[in-house]
Amino acid sequence: MTGAFLGAGAGSGGAGAVAPVMPPLQIVALPADGRSNPVRAGPVRPGATACRAAKGDPLPWHPEQLAGGNPAPGRGRVRKITDWEVRTQADPDGSRWYVERFRAMAAQGKDLAGEARMIDAMLARSARVLDAGCGSGRVGGELAARGHTVVGVDVDPALIEAARTDRPGLDWRVGDLTELDLPAEGVPQPFDVVVCAGNVLPYAAPGTQSAILGRLRAHLAHRGRVVVGFGRGVGRGYSFDQFFVDAADAGLQPDLVLSTWDLLPLAPDSDFLVAVLSAVAGADDASG
Ligand SMILES: C[S@@+](CC[C@H](N)C(=O)[O-])C[C@H]1O[C@@H](n2cnc3c(N)ncnc32)[C@H](O)[C@@H]1O
Repeated sequence: MTGAFLGAGAGSGGAGAVAPVMPPLQIVALPADGRSNPVRAGPVRPGATACRAAKGDPLPWHPEQLAGGNPAPGRGRVRKITDWEVRTQADPDGSRWYVERFRAMAAQGKDLAGEARMIDAMLARSARVLDAGCGSGRVGGELAARGHTVVGVDVDPALIEAARTDRPGLDWRVGDLTELDLPAEGVPQPFDVVVCAGNVLPYAAPGTQSAILGRLRAHLAHRGRVVVGFGRGVGRGYSFDQFFVDAADAGLQPDLVLSTWDLLPLAPDSDFLVAVLSAVAGADDASG
């Protein structure tokens, strides 16, 4: 796998925070009909499965969707493939590389808990946290270790498998945040904080961020907060301005905007955004 993933360091959101990014995507072909979801044109390694399910996970999509977009079974609409999946399809070892890189950093004693420390400070003890785009469970695992009840959801089955291996006994689920409906999956209790850390939104399918934010809002408890962190220019780029438009569309208002998870203020030249959002009273769920 490419060594160009970046981990902790400058621009990653402050002490102990990690904003992993992938290298720029190089081999893509935009569909002729102008849809915004690129489909990889280059070869896929023989035998590689673009979208592997962890054992027992129902796939809310079909692998053939990766080649064009079929309606998700039972849902009657097309699930847009995330940019993360486009990238891991382009390099089938990508998810494994990502998991091992973070395992290695943890083994070296690197501080990977900056986001979790901020979230923990916002919460009463034994609160409920949704780790949205949890990856291999770095943030949610740390919050569970601090006594919170955590549900983690990510679209990458390989990362969920790693979360289950490294942080067993927690609730890690494969799913696309644009379709998130945990009550329908038997998790009716809402969340005190939904954390969406580590560049989840820039790696979502372009144009789906408002739907994601709407689904996150729909899972909030009374007075709950959504906390989002991402870097400027990550992936194909998701601007801070567009984020605030999407958040408003989703019925979320910014209560606090920062440039790091250790609470430095946002400045015009900040390359990272951490936003604490709450539901606008009376706003409809914008996610459809
Ligand atoms: C850079 S990783 C960060 C993982 C984790 N939050 C962390 O900070 O360690 C970005 C993650 O966002 C997930 N993601 C992007 N769009 C998603 C979507 N629509 N639904 C679920 N997960 C998504 C990817 O699968 C990937 O695991």
